[in-house]
Amino acid sequence: MVRVGQFLLIGRAIVVLQLIPGILGWGKEGHYATCKIAEGLLSEDALDAVKGYLPDSAESDLAALCSWPDEIRHDFHWHWTGPLHYVDTPDFRCNYDYCRDCHDSYGHKDRCVTGAINNYTMQLLSAGHAAMGYNLTEALLFLSHFIGDVHQPLHVGFTGDAGGNTVVVRWYRRKTNLHHVWDNMIIESALKTFYSSNLSNMIQTIQKKISDSWSNDISSWANCSSNDTVCPDPYASESIHLACKFAYRNATPGTTLGDDYFLSRLPVVEKRLAQGGVRLAATLNRIFSSQPSIAQE
Ligand SMILES: *[C@@H]1O[C@H](CO)[C@@H](O)[C@H](O)[C@H]1NC(C)=O
Ligand SMILES: *[C@@H]1O[C@H](CO)[C@@H](O)[C@H](O)[C@H]1NC(C)=O
Ligand SMILES: *[C@@H]1O[C@H](CO)[C@@H](O)[C@H](O)[C@H]1NC(C)=O
Ligand SMILES: *[C@@H]1O[C@H](CO)[C@@H](O)[C@H](O)[C@H]1NC(C)=O
Ligand SMILES: *[C@@H]1O[C@H](CO)[C@@H](O)[C@H](O)[C@H]1NC(C)=O
Ligand SMILES: [Zn+2]
Ligand SMILES: [Zn+2]
Repeated sequence: MVRVGQFLLIGRAIVVLQLIPGILGWGKEGHYATCKIAEGLLSEDALDAVKGYLPDSAESDLAALCSWPDEIRHDFHWHWTGPLHYVDTPDFRCNYDYCRDCHDSYGHKDRCVTGAINNYTMQLLSAGHAAMGYNLTEALLFLSHFIGDVHQPLHVGFTGDAGGNTVVVRWYRRKTNLHHVWDNMIIESALKTFYSSNLSNMIQTIQKKISDSWSNDISSWANCSSNDTVCPDPYASESIHLACKFAYRNATPGTTLGDDYFLSRLPVVEKRLAQGGVRLAATLNRIFSSQPSIAQE
């Protein structure tokens, strides 16, 4: 009995280790940072609406729940949401095309991160028409999470290596994979090296850059062409370009990544967290300004 039990446990652990990195977006820190930055940029209307949709347990803090889609993703009931965290391009194609790329591994159209961002925006916009029956708490949390994910360069990576998940590398002395480096390790090393392991310090530094060095870029980050409410496609295009230029470069299987890689890629990660936050706020501001009187239930 015990032996069988242990064996099953080991089997599960292996399965879990193989599946998790492929599905998670930015790690918990990255999602928290994106949503925290967004919260600071919300209009009054959007802040009211967001607070109205959050469950009491969040204590009006969107960032506290931005990793929820990663946490539930392992439940059988939510298994179908796995492909909504990313979009892959054909191998070695450093561009993104919605029609070509936005599908799951069975070829079902729209089942990818950009399709999901459109979907949950549409649901939040339909809030006035209560008959639609969407759960808008879920819509808000999915939208907030997926706008973060689409900014992680390797969430728009190559199909053949599952966005870097099968590219085994060392991060300093630790064996891991390239996708995990971009979800977690760069941020974790930055926290230890530069921010006294305090995520609030890192977030404040990024917020300061947004109001100083990037202040002239914010409006071009935030807007959508043709006055669309939401526009995830350019974000995905940026991500695959960054994946080719920074993530995959000098990180072939078996490479040990150290200071050179860390210090040259950290600015990319910090800018993507900033852009994710600015664009999440801009999107929520647009969604909730077009319907000033959403009733909460
Ligand atoms: C849109 O959201 C609904 C509700 O979560 C879900 O049932 C549907 O599959 C989603 N579609 C896409 C393309 O994400
Ligand atoms: C909406 O979704 C959340 C999260 O899944 C759930 O806790 C809540 O009960 C749902 N609300 C309704 C009205 O179904
Ligand atoms: C982390 O940093 C924030 C802001 O810089 C500060 O207010 C907080 O006290 C720090 N937390 C710890 C545990 O040092
Ligand atoms: C936003 O506006 C800037 C300047 O007007 C423009 O260059 C840029 O292409 C726009 N961005 C998007 C996503 O349409
Ligand atoms: C976007 O909206 C503004 C203000 O409503 C309007 O002046 C402008 O012409 C619109 N631009 C496009 C491309 O639709
Ligand atoms: Zn990921
Ligand atoms: Zn995710």
